Amino acid sequence: MIYMDNAATTMQKPKEVIEAVVNAMTSFGNAGRGAGEASLGAARVIFDTREKLARLLGSESPKRIVFTNNATESLNIAIRGSLKPGDHVITTVLEHNSVLRPLYNMEETGVELTFIPCDEKGRIHYEAIEQAVKKNTKMIVCTHGSNLTGNMIDIESVGMLANKHSILFVVDASQTAGVFPIDVQKMHIDILCFTGHKSLLGPQGTGGMYVREGICLAPLKSGGSGVDSYNKQHPQEMPAALEAGTLNGHGIAGLGAALEYIERTGMDVIRETQQKYMRRFYEGVKEIPGVKIYGDFETTKRCPIVALNIGDYDSSEVSDELLVRYGISTRPGAHCAPLMHKALGTVEQGAVRFSFSHYNKEEEVEAVIAAVRELACEG
Ligand code: ALA
Repeated sequence: MIYMDNAATTMQKPKEVIEAVVNAMTSFGNAGRGAGEASLGAARVIFDTREKLARLLGSESPKRIVFTNNATESLNIAIRGSLKPGDHVITTVLEHNSVLRPLYNMEETGVELTFIPCDEKGRIHYEAIEQAVKKNTKMIVCTHGSNLTGNMIDIESVGMLANKHSILFVVDASQTAGVFPIDVQKMHIDILCFTGHKSLLGPQGTGGMYVREGICLAPLKSGGSGVDSYNKQHPQEMPAALEAGTLNGHGIAGLGAALEYIERTGMDVIRETQQKYMRRFYEGVKEIPGVKIYGDFETTKRCPIVALNIGDYDSSEVSDELLVRYGISTRPGAHCAPLMHKALGTVEQGAVRFSFSHYNKEEEVEAVIAAVRELACEG
């Protein structure tokens, strides 16, 4: 099988990740719930992973890194835990449902939303963000990279704008953490949400968020914390304040090993390899008659994603043909990004998304180009 659905989840993981999960599953006790070696061993690995994430993202302290199950959980905490009726939020049409749905839920409670539109290539106009700022604007929340087109948002510019107007800035880094440099201090990011199972190369069920010192979020859950058990209230200290219940220690061990692998291999090396495959694929399919590609390829700053359609073939049919006839794995349909599809005019057809990993091979990319050409010719 040729796996080209890495924006959904990276399937090939470094062998160290698998070894770390197996090792954790055969040796971990419950971190913070005992004084034995098994419990302490788990706590050490979890702390170590927190430190690595703090280093990767430029966090002022590992205590500001919270573990969650995925970016969706992190975004729900950020959005539900900070907005009140009467607040205004600026977001974009590039967003995934993990941003949109919590925002729509908050809209029902009296939160006001403004969506920054995009042009035909899926690019937003940055001036529109500043124009949308109002007295009651509490939050700007946006993705760092669209999961559909691969277009990126210049989060450093948006961060500067948010900082200038003292607006909370929340970033969804689901498609970029681990591959694109992120510095939460320099970029004025207040809350950064990420998942472990995509470009961070960790196991599914791992994820987290950075929360700037001084920001207090209402937790989605309370419960066991391993400390202060007689208190009726959940601890307010970070990161325990947002981490009720036993953590996914086995997964976090895998994520820690993935971070080590990324540090050792070099984020730049990983990114450049992905970019090379994406570019070659784009160049190989862009002139094929009937192929329509979405997104901005004039810039070099983009996620390793190419979304396309062939004529008016339904994207699910194309994706099925690619899988059944050629063994190529892609994602078709709506990609949980409804406003982006509306903007691109692909609500009915969806789009076939090819998303690259540094583990792909040049021959695979060539084989996928040939398969798209063959399908387009048949159509
Ligand atoms: N959000 C993931 C995707 O884009 C699952 O496919």
